Amino acid sequence: MIKKSCPAFFCTSGYLPNFYLCLVMTKITIAIDGYSSCGKSTLARSLAAKLGYNYVDSGAMYRCVTYDCLRKGIIKDGKFMREEVVKVLDTIHLSFVYNPSAKASDTYLNGENVEKQIRQMDVSRNVSHISVIKEVREMMAKLQRAMGKDKGVVMDGRDIGTNIFPDAELKIFMTADTDIRTQRRVDELTAKGNHVTFEEVKKNLLSRDYEDSHREENPLRKADDAVVLDNSDLNRDEQLEFVLKLVEDLKLLKKEEEKVSPQGAVKSTKDA
Ligand code: DC
Repeated sequence: MIKKSCPAFFCTSGYLPNFYLCLVMTKITIAIDGYSSCGKSTLARSLAAKLGYNYVDSGAMYRCVTYDCLRKGIIKDGKFMREEVVKVLDTIHLSFVYNPSAKASDTYLNGENVEKQIRQMDVSRNVSHISVIKEVREMMAKLQRAMGKDKGVVMDGRDIGTNIFPDAELKIFMTADTDIRTQRRVDELTAKGNHVTFEEVKKNLLSRDYEDSHREENPLRKADDAVVLDNSDLNRDEQLEFVLKLVEDLKLLKKEEEKVSPQGAVKSTKDA
């Protein structure tokens, strides 16, 4: 009973009685960064579901800003005035609403469900240019930190472990072979009814990887303490298992710390 109502992993431990573990239950923050179309969202979503945590797709937030600029004509043929994008930020309200049929959260822009629109190729083509803008990054960072302030969150993106939550207890850096990533993305887009070619998608992935890792503001890079996960040869279940094992190891470590200093456990509960 207690086990079921306590989503965090500490409740499943056999070291202390469950009721006590629930009292000292400490939620953690899990940051997942990596290259485009590595399956970060798939992993983050299933991990969050397994742990009873919130999932935040930070890329969707940058996509919303880009989509809004495209539909307002602020981005034309890949060109835009920086000041006009910055002005749009004042008019943007972002939220995530759980969609039970998709068993995932949909992204809302000013109350409108834009989950499908923000995944389209014209958004993908422009999003890296929009996400270099300092003011855009500052606004997204503020929202993301607010969403993760109570911990118990899995957030994926490009700068989560390095900039948004540098103190995250678990950081994963994902990568995979470019052709495998491209094929996965092509399959995903095709399944959603988009007509795309392998070459077009590959070009987009490579240019986004380059832009995301070479920009001035919080570029994509592996945090020093992140664990690298190359999922080229792993399926969804295998990669989830890999990360759950890391979570389990973290739990054992925590248990050892609590054994040595029981005070620490109480303190970390207050912190969480
Ligand atoms: O995760 P995604 O492919 O949906 O992200 C789209 C773009 O958003 C990505 O190419 C770069 C940008 N992004 C970012 O700059 N920082 C993040 N934390 C997440 C995404």
